[in-house]
Amino acid sequence: MVPKFHFQVIIIFLLSSWLCITSSLDTQIGADFDKWVSWNVKNYYYEKKSTLEAKRNLVAAGPDLKLRQAESNRIRIRVSQDGAGDFKTITEALNSVPLRNTRRVIVSIAPGVYREKIMIPRTLAFITLLGDGGDPPTITGNDTASFNGRDGTPLGTFQSATVAVDASYFVAINIKFENSAPHVIGRRGEQGVALRISGTKAAFYNCTFYGDQDTLYDHKGLHYFNNCSIQGSVDFIFGSGRSLYQNCYLNSTTKKVASITAQKRTNSSLESGFSFKNCTITGSGQVYLGRAWGDYSRVVFSYTYMDKIVLPKGWSDWGDQNRDSRVYYGEYKCSGPGANSPGRVPWARVLTDEEAEPFIGTQFIEGDTWLISP
Ligand SMILES: *[C@@H]1O[C@H](CO)[C@@H](O)[C@H](O)[C@H]1NC(C)=O
Ligand SMILES: *[C@@H]1O[C@H](CO)[C@@H](O)[C@H](O)[C@H]1NC(C)=O
Ligand SMILES: *[C@@H]1O[C@H](CO)[C@@H](O)[C@H](O)[C@H]1NC(C)=O
Ligand SMILES: *[C@@H]1O[C@H](CO)[C@@H](O)[C@H](O)[C@H]1NC(C)=O
Ligand SMILES: *[C@@H]1O[C@H](CO)[C@@H](O)[C@H](O)[C@H]1NC(C)=O
Ligand SMILES: *[C@@H]1O[C@H](CO)[C@@H](O)[C@H](O)[C@H]1NC(C)=O
Repeated sequence: MVPKFHFQVIIIFLLSSWLCITSSLDTQIGADFDKWVSWNVKNYYYEKKSTLEAKRNLVAAGPDLKLRQAESNRIRIRVSQDGAGDFKTITEALNSVPLRNTRRVIVSIAPGVYREKIMIPRTLAFITLLGDGGDPPTITGNDTASFNGRDGTPLGTFQSATVAVDASYFVAINIKFENSAPHVIGRRGEQGVALRISGTKAAFYNCTFYGDQDTLYDHKGLHYFNNCSIQGSVDFIFGSGRSLYQNCYLNSTTKKVASITAQKRTNSSLESGFSFKNCTITGSGQVYLGRAWGDYSRVVFSYTYMDKIVLPKGWSDWGDQNRDSRVYYGEYKCSGPGANSPGRVPWARVLTDEEAEPFIGTQFIEGDTWLISP
């Protein structure tokens, strides 16, 4: 008992001394930091670890310094099409932010449909797009891979995005991202991305991604999606990101056979992969959970409801059998008529508790160092 007591005292001392340092920067930060600790402890450790151990780890690691500084200097700017805000377009609002931005800039967007093509460059870190929960704004476009850009050559999938984010520490809350280009079966070059996220440490809450083929380009970096809705037909979540999708709704609009994900991982030392936890899969057509883009593609579904549209085979090697022994496709405690099929490909895995553990919390995306409460 005695050593344990001492230990707690030390922890409390360490924690409170840190709080003192942060609150001398800004009194608001103390409260924010408390909120941050409790939120992270809940999300990061509630499955296994004790609160005490969580606090000790947080004191040791702590949130990213750049992030803490950005949060202590936040500013808010308002976008409204009727002129009631600081800007009428999101593009104008973003243009007002100095390059090499170091503070959190909350761009609060009034309801409406914004037909804008938005590119957030690497130098514009710490941008938050915040919509109204009751009436979220829609950012829409209809560029496709085959559509010719300004230089007269086809855009390609990468440049087709309505919103492209190359910056880190991006956050979006209550925003609808859309690419309205229709997919015509049998035609090539119809990929139309609604959002491409290439920056790391990005979080999305209550967002909707509407598109057809290639809706969400989860390109690279650490990403968190919570309570988001993602809709599309072919490979509608794809890329090399390391991402956790929690409480998300995945809706297929394909009329025939397609794959929900195309996760790209080309060698076994890369840390990328998609983890879906407590999601729902529904919609039309027949879908694979994933098809292998690269030999070592990695996708895990846990605690997910799978409607009957999920094909019994579950997974596709994209026609390359060499991949069967290399991909990492796992399922853990899923439910619904599309789950737990005896017809799954033999190289799919039913994960044990131990195997599932790294994927089923924010530890998968190193959330303890950068994921702050929204
Ligand atoms: C998501 O939307 C719900 C309902 O509008 C709201 O209560 C919640 O605070 C939103 N989440 C965030 C992170 O704003
Ligand atoms: C995209 O939308 C614009 C504006 O509504 C329209 O003029 C254009 O024809 C559309 N492009 C395609 C390829 O559908
Ligand atoms: C999830 O988002 C939807 C809107 O997309 C909202 O209506 C709902 O309240 C949100 N739920 C939570 C738990 O935030
Ligand atoms: C699972 O997701 C549903 C729907 O988004 C949500 O209402 C529920 O609270 C989530 N459950 C857990 C344990 O997070
Ligand atoms: C899901 O997609 C189907 C088309 O496949 C559509 O009819 C349905 O409205 C979508 N569901 C939601 C909740 O958006
Ligand atoms: C894996 O891929 C990365 C990125 O392309 C590369 O830097 C690394 O050397 C590769 N490792 C192996 C073992 O091939």
